[in-house]
Amino acid sequence: MNTIDIITRKRNGEALSRNEIEYIIMGYTAGEIPDYQMAAFLMAVFFKGMNKEETVELTQIMKNSGDVVDLSRIRGIKVDKHSTGGVGDKTTLIAGPIAAACGVPIAKMSGRGLGFTGGTVDKLESIPGFRTLMAEEEFINQVNEKGIAVIGQTGQIAPADKKIYALRDVTGTVENLSLITSSIMSKKLAAGSDAILLDVKCGSGAFMKTQDEAETLASLMVEIGHAAGKETMALITDMSQPLGHSVGNSLEVEEAVEVLKNQGEEDITKISVNLAGLMIFLGKKASSRDEGISMARKALENGSALEKFRDFVEGQGGNGNIIDDTSLLPHSNFSVALKAWDNGYVSEIDAMQAGLASQHTGAGRMTKEDRIDLSAGIRFHRKVGDKVNKGDIICTVFCNDCEKAQKALDEIKKAVRIEGNRLEIPSLIKSEVYFDEKDRCIVHRIDHDS
Ligand code: URA
Repeated sequence: MNTIDIITRKRNGEALSRNEIEYIIMGYTAGEIPDYQMAAFLMAVFFKGMNKEETVELTQIMKNSGDVVDLSRIRGIKVDKHSTGGVGDKTTLIAGPIAAACGVPIAKMSGRGLGFTGGTVDKLESIPGFRTLMAEEEFINQVNEKGIAVIGQTGQIAPADKKIYALRDVTGTVENLSLITSSIMSKKLAAGSDAILLDVKCGSGAFMKTQDEAETLASLMVEIGHAAGKETMALITDMSQPLGHSVGNSLEVEEAVEVLKNQGEEDITKISVNLAGLMIFLGKKASSRDEGISMARKALENGSALEKFRDFVEGQGGNGNIIDDTSLLPHSNFSVALKAWDNGYVSEIDAMQAGLASQHTGAGRMTKEDRIDLSAGIRFHRKVGDKVNKGDIICTVFCNDCEKAQKALDEIKKAVRIEGNRLEIPSLIKSEVYFDEKDRCIVHRIDHDS
């Protein structure tokens, strides 16, 4: 076999065999195939695509390139949840404790992430004392005792993906269905849970801009999970404006606490309850999706999810008092406000643009070596559809550097539109994707937000 032939065959739109895919992926991971050939291969895949069989093979090969976590010592059906990424998405911090409060063991390895804010692990590290590094034994004990643990990725989970993703990031080859699917699912399958719930974002702040594209990605990921013998479901959710009211690491922890106190914004509360409800269903603690969702709502209302969050934080060495006093979280030195320049209604807060603004505050990394400012970010006081009078504060930018604050303010201005008439608010939960009892992959569009 030879690398040039494989690149040429893919460039010509031919389907590759398992052996060919393995040759190029493992050769690159081992350092035997150089970046320039892998970049050419990725670009050929980007333009010519891969069929489902090739995507299944690619996922398995990347999964098997490293460790496959064994969670069998944890009692019960372990459910993992993954979001394809969005601005202000702190749902893991909320849905995880809710599902755990309803008896579903959550043993999650999470990433740091490049982009608009840190990943879940960065957000958790804004809690004083919180440890995201744990030995395997301690991780397993924490899940058995407290019902939930979230740690940074340890060992060698899908090292092939790690190397390839870094190359995709700098060669314009991220946004391809097969490459995204295999990248995400290889890590999910290696992480050892029994069932997987995917939150596939759609809108300006997501990889997938339209509902159709998001459904196609979700269906492929659900099919790959199913083919690997894991029960897998997906929700397609809105990412046209930031989720909830905060973007930034400690700001998002603060907001997660508000939601767990059942005092959160409607959008983030609703998505978190739906995700947790499906996790409860996948974990077989509810006999239907609706029952799972109503159990999740109850756990939020009766305070058991909040207490589970406290247990989880303290179990990992964090200061649980942040729940009663969020001023114990890191806070920035400066804040500047964006005020409404007109009377009217907020018709747009472009998620992508808001994410870029957040990155300017220092809340996100531009490169993986960057240090995150855990206290920086943006808090929105208005959402799409809200009425504003000239001079009302639309959002506050938090920052530790005046120059960065000004840059972030300039960026956030570009994200917001005010119009005379109130426009329709985009629906939050757009579709669900699952396998039915006849083993068919179903995409169910949800017509109205309930
Ligand atoms: N997240 C991943 O882990 N991989 C992708 O390709 C895209 C998002």
